[in-house]
Amino acid sequence: MSGSGGDNFGVVPGINQHNAMTPSPSFSLCLRSSERTVPVVIQPGLRFSLPSLLADACGGRRPFLITDNNLFDLYINSSSVHAVDTSPFADVITLAPGEPSKTRETIAYIHDRLLEEKAGRDSVIIALGGGVIGDMAGFAAATLHRGIGLVHLPTSLLAQVDSCIGGKTGVNHPLGKNLIGAIYHPDTILVDPEFLITLPDEEYTNGMAEVIKYAISLDKALWSLLVDNSQRLLARDPSILTAVIQRCTELKIGIVAQDERETGLRSILNFGHTVGHAIERLSGYRVKHGFAIAEGMRVALRLSHQLCGYPGEQMHNAEQLLALYGLPHIPLPPFDDMWNALSLDKKARRAEPRFTLLNADSSPALFHPVSREEVRYAIAE
Ligand SMILES: NC(=O)c1ccc[n+]([C@@H]2O[C@H](COP(=O)([O-])OP(=O)(O)OC[C@H]3O[C@@H](n4cnc5c(N)ncnc54)[C@H](O)[C@@H]3O)[C@@H](O)[C@H]2O)c1
Repeated sequence: MSGSGGDNFGVVPGINQHNAMTPSPSFSLCLRSSERTVPVVIQPGLRFSLPSLLADACGGRRPFLITDNNLFDLYINSSSVHAVDTSPFADVITLAPGEPSKTRETIAYIHDRLLEEKAGRDSVIIALGGGVIGDMAGFAAATLHRGIGLVHLPTSLLAQVDSCIGGKTGVNHPLGKNLIGAIYHPDTILVDPEFLITLPDEEYTNGMAEVIKYAISLDKALWSLLVDNSQRLLARDPSILTAVIQRCTELKIGIVAQDERETGLRSILNFGHTVGHAIERLSGYRVKHGFAIAEGMRVALRLSHQLCGYPGEQMHNAEQLLALYGLPHIPLPPFDDMWNALSLDKKARRAEPRFTLLNADSSPALFHPVSREEVRYAIAE
């Protein structure tokens, strides 16, 4: 599919829109959801203009920063050249990093802190962090006073290309991931690709799996860009990273604007996720999401080849692309455990999983039913 989302894209007044394959100092798009229009600004070094950007985004409302300890040490409580100017913030709330923090208890803590600081409906949460901070800060913003302002300032590759866009917010429950949440779009999304320079290697590779997902399932031009510029991308050159983030943002906006509630087309964004989620769950979430969906994409590619005529050569090239970016084969759990986990997937019908696959022309085959024997064969290949 083409990256152009027609009416779903717009230029923010006063800022130029550029071709996504030509990195530009500042790039803006709008996500037009059913509820609001969300400007997305992508600009290396944007964090140094935070006070003026927030003054525009918050329009006199009180900004509260929510971040995790890692980012606090790197960007807030730091005298390094990276440091962000914290003068606009009414308060800074820091949380323990990572998935274990993504709980109802943490949301209660955020609400308590905000209410103690008298955050009212004239307040805006600024979410500085990866997907965990974005999901939790978003859910806290959605629920305090039935909804206060929200600005995403994503810092991981996964957050910049995926989780900050689309309005999904929430926390985990002991019975499963992301079981409690809301769709709540931010007022603005501010993306500084230079944040990725301090991202740990494993987290960078983790996010790259989602980038590769967009390339394989939606955009041949992005695929070529990843193949032709692998050295620069592996070295995290901000200008090529900016081009990649721009393109992924365009693609996700184009899909979300057409299917905000994931009743159809949006499930293309789940390419590789059916098996990926099963791997994550069966590993007790020790296997990171990106590594799990990379393996899930390998299985989905083989099923696409077997069942939908996806070309074998393209499948081979896609597998090479995953290897190029350091996403190795990981051992799969025993087949019976895997099949049970797949049968519990939320897209399954009558305990038979339904996959997002690719047709011969790379168009999506959504909700494709797949039998036990077909999965067994694809895994054994
Ligand atoms: N809302 C959505 O649509 C959506 C989509 C995909 C994933 N998610 C959620 O996103 C979460 C995963 O996000 P994630 O992979 O960003 O994990 P994360 O937020 O836990 O961040 C990973 C680690 O990287 C650190 N980090 C982040 N940015 C950094 C930087 N610039 N420099 C140094 N360290 C940095 C964090 O402190 C953390 O330790 C999961 O909870 C998942 O459910 C949400």
